Order: sequence, then C-alpha cells, then structure tokens
Amino acid sequence: MRLKNKSAVVTGASSGIGRAIAELFAREGAAVVVADLNEAGGQEVVAAIRSAGGRAEFVRCDVANEAECRAACDAAVRAFGGLNVVVNNAAAFIYGSVEETTYDQWQKVWNVNVVGQAQMVKSALPALRKAGGGAVVNIASQSSFIAQANYVPYNSSKAGILQLTRCLALDLAKDNVRVNAVSPGTIKTPAVDHCIHVQGMTLEEGYKRFGEDAVLKRLGEPIEIANAVLFLASDEASYITGANLVVDGGATID
Ligand SMILES: NC(=O)c1ccc[n+]([C@@H]2O[C@H](COP(=O)([O-])OP(=O)(O)OC[C@H]3O[C@@H](n4cnc5c(N)ncnc54)[C@H](O)[C@@H]3O)[C@@H](O)[C@H]2O)c1
Repeated sequence: MRLKNKSAVVTGASSGIGRAIAELFAREGAAVVVADLNEAGGQEVVAAIRSAGGRAEFVRCDVANEAECRAACDAAVRAFGGLNVVVNNAAAFIYGSVEETTYDQWQKVWNVNVVGQAQMVKSALPALRKAGGGAVVNIASQSSFIAQANYVPYNSSKAGILQLTRCLALDLAKDNVRVNAVSPGTIKTPAVDHCIHVQGMTLEEGYKRFGEDAVLKRLGEPIEIANAVLFLASDEASYITGANLVVDGGATID
C-alpha cells in the first residue's frame, strides 16, 4: 500500500478522473476527503470507497471559495488526524474564442482552475507543515501546452497551472512539500462525453475521432491518470518536484 496512514483531499472527486484518483488512493491505504460541488456524486464515491473497506468523507466545496477550501482541509484533519496529500483536480470547462468569452467566464475559469488550486494549497499548508511535509498534484492538461481552436479561456488557465506548479515547488521545498502536475490527454470522462455530444457525435464516433489524436490510437481511461497521480503523491516520487508528467497516449509528441 503506497499511501498507508496518509490522508488526502481530492477536489472534483465526484466524477471522472477525480473519482478514479479518490478510489485508487483509498485502495492504497489513504483516507480521502472527496471535495466537490456535486454532493450526490460525491456521496456515491464515499459509499463505494467505504463498501470496499476504505475511509472517505464528502465535503461540499467550491474550490473558487477560499473558506470552502479551508473547510475541506479542516475536515481531513478532523476526520483523519492530519493531511498529507492534496490533488487539485476540479476544473471549469469554459471554451470559446476571445470575442465570445465574457469577462465573467474569464473570471470563473481562472478562479476555479488556477486561483482555486493556489487557495487549496494555501489552506492545506498548516496541516502539511504539521505532518512534516507532503505532496501536491495539480491536474493540468495537454491543453496546457498546445493551442486548440477556440479554447482560449480553458487552455490559457491550464497553462497557468504549469507555472503555478513550478513556483509552488520552489517556494514550498523548504517545507518538504513536493508540488507536481499531471497533464492528461483525452480521457473517457463525463466532461469529454459532454464535449462529444455538443459536437453532434455519438460516443462511439467521438472516442474514435479523438482517439486518432493519440499515437496509441485510443482515449485514456481515468485509472491511467490516477496511476500517474498516485506515483507523484507517493514516496516513490520523493526526489520529484516541479515536474509535469504528460499522460496522453503520445498525443502531443508530434
Ligand atoms: N477528461 C479529459 O479528457 C481531460 C483532459 C485533460 C485534462 N483534464 C482535467 O482533468 C480534471 C478532471 O476532469 P474530468 O474529465 O474528470 O471532468 P468531470 O467533469 O468528469 O469531473 C470534474 C469534477 O469537478 C467538479 N467541479 C467542477 N467545478 C468545481 C468547483 N468549482 N469546485 C469543486 N468541484 C468542482 C465537478 O462537479 C465534477 O465532479 C480537470 O482538471 C480537467 O481539466 C481532463
């Protein structure tokens, strides 16, 4: 068990990649706070973890709200006696051209995707220090470093996450807190299913079409991202900080 006796907050853990991370962490021995806006989905994840013998609590949390970030971290300390790992996975999926994106949408996408990750780390720091250090994994994207047509708000915010990760890694090294990013390619989650439907394709058509972007010629599964996050969160990655692990089936190599 690679996270035995550890406690983790995973944001956006009611669905998709976050759910896979929360469930894998629990199987690896971690007690997990499932922090999400979606209470019904989050309670379902908690029930699944508990019925498999793991420990989990749901906390309703908007990562764009500083007080709610603090509440999620406090819940980990209260329920599990401390906090060792933070996974910043929640995201706002706001796409569009610069002309069609409103100021409110810009604020939302940056507040959730970038400021939210920073506020969650800030909220966790007192407990991470108390534990003698810890690990933060920020979920970025292939969209952090490639341009895609009419994806300006989402992609620019995802690029911000990579620099946030490097700056936090530098500043928090003295606290023995490692900060890394994972950049997924296209992964089979409800967010991608929604994108496929919006573009008028069936899921089968969409998976085939997006799968062509990867040299492995398929979409990724949420567990394939969770495995990379687990590695960076675990002591196996003890000399890795400020890194970005790309998990995209080779989509961005050519
Ligand atoms: N699925 C992909 O292909 C893909 C590719 C690259 C990066 N990513 C990244 O992976 C992460 C997870 O994406 P997913 O595909 O699993 O999405 P998803 O829609 O399945 O899950 C996202 C979860 O985040 C929650 N959430 C949204 N806003 C929130 C907020 N303000 N506070 C708290 N929770 C909030 C939602 O309720 C949902 O449960 C995101 O950071 C996304 O940018 C996904």
